[in-house]
Amino acid sequence: MPRKVHYGVDYDDSYDVYEDYDDDYADNYDYEVEQNASETMAKLEADKSGVWRCPICTYDNEDSMSACDICGVLRNPLVKAIAKMDIDGAPFKFDAPSPDDLVSNGLRSVKSKSKGNILSKKETKIQVESELVAKGPVSSSVPVTRERRNGVSENDSASGSGNKSEVFDTRMKAETSSSKTRKEEIIDEGKTSTSQYNPEKWMIPDKLDAGLSQLNLAIVGHVDSGKSTLSGRLLHLLGRISQKEMHKYEKEAKQQGKGSFAFAWAMDESVEERERGITMTVGVAFFTSRKYQIVLLDSPGHRDFVPNMISGATQADAAIIVVDASLGSFEAGIDATGGQTKEHAQLVRSFGVEQVIVVVNKMDVVEYSKERFDTVKEKLRTFLRSCGFKDSSILWVPASAMENQNLVANASDVRLSWFKGPCLLDAIDSLQLPTRDYSKPLLMPICDVVKLPSQGQVSACGKLESGAIRTGFKVMVMPSREIATVRSLEKDSQVCNIARAGDNVTVNLQGIEGNRVTAGGMICHPDYPVQISNYLELKILVLDISTPIVIGSQFEFHIHHAKEAARVVRILSLLDPKTGKTAKKSPRCLLAKQNAIVEVALQTPVCVEEYNNCRALGRVFLRASGRTIALGIVTQIIKREE
Ligand code: GTP
Ligand code: MG
Repeated sequence: MPRKVHYGVDYDDSYDVYEDYDDDYADNYDYEVEQNASETMAKLEADKSGVWRCPICTYDNEDSMSACDICGVLRNPLVKAIAKMDIDGAPFKFDAPSPDDLVSNGLRSVKSKSKGNILSKKETKIQVESELVAKGPVSSSVPVTRERRNGVSENDSASGSGNKSEVFDTRMKAETSSSKTRKEEIIDEGKTSTSQYNPEKWMIPDKLDAGLSQLNLAIVGHVDSGKSTLSGRLLHLLGRISQKEMHKYEKEAKQQGKGSFAFAWAMDESVEERERGITMTVGVAFFTSRKYQIVLLDSPGHRDFVPNMISGATQADAAIIVVDASLGSFEAGIDATGGQTKEHAQLVRSFGVEQVIVVVNKMDVVEYSKERFDTVKEKLRTFLRSCGFKDSSILWVPASAMENQNLVANASDVRLSWFKGPCLLDAIDSLQLPTRDYSKPLLMPICDVVKLPSQGQVSACGKLESGAIRTGFKVMVMPSREIATVRSLEKDSQVCNIARAGDNVTVNLQGIEGNRVTAGGMICHPDYPVQISNYLELKILVLDISTPIVIGSQFEFHIHHAKEAARVVRILSLLDPKTGKTAKKSPRCLLAKQNAIVEVALQTPVCVEEYNNCRALGRVFLRASGRTIALGIVTQIIKREE
C-alpha cells in the first residue's frame, strides 16, 4: 500500500444498501469512449447494412441518423475508415458477445505512528500513484507497477502504447471466447476446501490472553478538513509524540511559512507533502486508548489520491469522517462534483465499515456555534443514511484539533458547553470490535513491502483478514506461490510472537527473494492459498456517471491493495434494486445508480476470493478519470489461475 508507517457491511446487509443513493450526488464522470469500441462497431457496421451501431450504448441506429437515437452520441465520421482498417487486419477487434452467446453460457446466479515508538521510528515511503488518476481515461493512462509481476521496478501504461493495448486486448478477446470452457474447468478444479481446515489451538485467542485488541481506524474526509492535524494532535496529547519532537515540527513548519501545519507534519513527512500542505500517502500511527490499541490510518483527502486512500482504508474496522465546520468548506466537501466527504463515506461503507465517528472539526472558526453544528449534522446525516449507515452507528463530535477542544477530554471552552456527548477519545472507546475470522486459514493482504537485501530480509505489512501467524510459521506468498518462514513479527513496532485476524502487523520473512513479495499480494496458509484470477463476475452498483458503461469500457479495478487495468467483457443483467432479482438480461449499457451483474477481465491476475467466502477479499471498486464509477462485490471467480 502506498503509505508511510511511523513506527514512531459488515457488509451483511448485502450490496443493496446502496439502492437509495443520494440523488444529489450527480456529477460528471466522463471517461472516454474507447477507440476499440469504435473499431468493433465499425466491423459490426460493415457486417450489417442499413444500420450503424452506437459505440456508446451499442444501439443499432438507422443509417440516416447522424446521432444515436438512444444516447445522442454523434456518429463517428471515421467509422468507415476504421472498419476497413479492421477488416484489413488491424491488431484488435473486441468481440462483443451476442445475446445468444450469453444465453448459451447461462446467466449464473447472483450470488508507527507508532509514533508509537519514536525511538525506533521506521519509515517507508512508497511511490505515490497520483498519476494514475490525474491523467484521464484508463485506456490511456493506467500505470501498472511491473514489479508486481516480474520484479522490474518500473511503471508502465496499461494501454498507452499500441503494443500493450494490443496484448491486453488480444488477451481479452481470448478470455471472452473461451470463458465457457474455463468456467466448466473451474467446477472440476479442487482447491483444498477451507471447510476442512482445523485451526491449531494457538490460533484462537484465549480469554486470558493479555493485551488490548487492535482496532483499525481510518481517518477520512475532504481535503484540508484537518485529518492530519487531528491525528498529530491526538498522538501528542497521548504521549506518542514527545514535546521535543513537537517543537521540532513547529520550528520547521514556521520556517517554511506553514506554521499552522505543525501537527499535520507529524503525519505528513515527505518533502512534497509538506511543501504542498496535503497528505498524499496514508500515514499509519498507533496509540492506546482505555479499551483498544488503535491503528490510525490517516488518509489523503485530495481527490488525486483516492487510490491511496482506498488501499489504506480497506483495512478499517471503523472510520472517523472529519468535516470542516467553516462556512463554505463543509459545503465543498459534500459538493456533488468534487466533494471527497461523500466519496470517502461511500467508500468506507463499501469496505464493510458500519461504525463511524463524524468529527465536526474547526469549530473554533464558527465560534463553536451549536446552530452550525446542527446544520452540518443534519445535511451529512441524510447522506450517510443513503450510504447505508444506521443512525445508531454514527457518533457526532464537535471539536477543534487546532485549539484542542473535545479531543481526549471534554471541551474546556465554554462556547462548547452546550455539547453533552463524549469527547473524541471516549467516542473511539465506545466503538465495537468487529467479529474476527480466527478459525479460518491465514489471509493477509500485503499493503507494503520493506526490503533489506543486506540482511536477506523482506518485510510485509498489512492487516490479517483471517487466521493467525506466529514466529517460525511457514507461509505461502501469493501470487508468487513461494514458501517463506516467518522470522519475526512486529505489532506497533514491538516484537510479538503471534498475530491474529484483525491485527495490523509487519511480518519479517526469510527464505524468499525480495521481488517475490509484492504489495497487492497475499500471505497465506500454505495449504489454503488465496485464489488468483483475471476474469471475474461482479455485482456492481453504478455511481453517478454521465457516460454509460458499455461492453469494452475500461477502468481501474481496485481490490484490497491491488489495482489493475480492467475492462467490461459482458453485461449479463440489470438487477431490480429492491428485490435483487434480474430485471433485464443483457442490457446494452449501464447508467447511473443501476445494479448489475457484469463480467470483467483484468490485465494481470489478482489475489481474490468470492465475497461469500471472504468479504475483505471480495470487495471491488471501479474507477475511471479520477472518480469512483462503481462499487461491487465478486460473485464468481470465472477463471482461476494455477
Ligand atoms: P489532506 O490530508 O491534504 O486532505 O488535509 P487534512 O485533512 O489532513 O488537513 P490538515 O491537517 O493538513 O490541515 C489543513 C489546514 O487546516 C491546516 O492549515 C490546519 O492548520 C488547519 N486546521 C486543522 N484543524 C483545524 C482546526 O481545528 N481549526 C482551525 N482553525 N484550523 C485547523
Ligand atoms: Mg492530511
